[in-house]
Amino acid sequence: MASDRLAGRKAIVTGAGSGIGAAVVQRLKADGAQVFTADVAGAVDFAADLTGDGANADLVARAVAAMGGLDTLVPCAGISAFHPLEGHDDAYFRRVIEVNLIAVFRLVRDAVPHLKAAGNGRIVTIGSTTSSHGDEGLCAYSASKHAVLGFTKSAAAELGPLGVTVNCVQPGAIATPMTAPAFTDMPEFRTFWENKAPLRRLGQPQDIADVIAFLCSDDARFMSGHGVWVDGGAMVRH
Ligand SMILES: NC(=O)c1ccc[n+]([C@@H]2O[C@H](COP(=O)([O-])OP(=O)(O)OC[C@H]3O[C@@H](n4cnc5c(N)ncnc54)[C@H](O)[C@@H]3O)[C@@H](O)[C@H]2O)c1
Repeated sequence: MASDRLAGRKAIVTGAGSGIGAAVVQRLKADGAQVFTADVAGAVDFAADLTGDGANADLVARAVAAMGGLDTLVPCAGISAFHPLEGHDDAYFRRVIEVNLIAVFRLVRDAVPHLKAAGNGRIVTIGSTTSSHGDEGLCAYSASKHAVLGFTKSAAAELGPLGVTVNCVQPGAIATPMTAPAFTDMPEFRTFWENKAPLRRLGQPQDIADVIAFLCSDDARFMSGHGVWVDGGAMVRH
């Protein structure tokens, strides 16, 4: 339910053009935040490939100029596809690490001076159930998402004294354009995840956005450095 709990917050959301990122933009705005949106292309405030040299520094500078400051980061941009290990090419593995991990590191690093100035910063990274477990065909993705969780913990240790909380949301199987091909082409994969979750359904982007908004709010002021599962209970059994 919309509120004014994020009034005054100035947030960057990446991956804002689709799926979870788009839902986060809606929810943060509904709760009163100013939001500066980024994605590769489309109707966003900053359209660029965020793995490009200087792209994140440029994004931060433009967001600060547009909003008059910056205190909240939600880097949702990410990629995923099934690639068996046999014949897995170097280029795709590198690409996944670049998008899912290095671009997140660069955004956080480039925003630190502004988060420091704000004094009550919030960073919510997007991990996955594969931040803690593995799966067939997901070596690159799982490596990147384990790393995002590790990055989150160390960033929380380092930025906590500056008043910044850093947490990682770990979504389960969420119905977005990223997962649509797998759930459409492999109905048994969809059924598997629906049944694995005690809540017996796939997640929707809003299910994740609502938890992210909470982590950005003052209610979550004493939470930092954690992975927060939002998976309908799917991972209570392995
Ligand atoms: N959908 C799921 O089941 C699920 C589960 C766990 C984690 N996640 C994570 O949630 C995040 C959002 O995923 P989604 O399901 O909404 O996917 P999505 O494909 O719907 O959205 C991802 C967005 O990121 C953008 N993006 C990708 N590479 C980019 C780049 N180099 N620069 C700028 N933007 C880029 C895309 O253009 C797209 O708009 C990702 O980090 C994903 O790994 C998703």
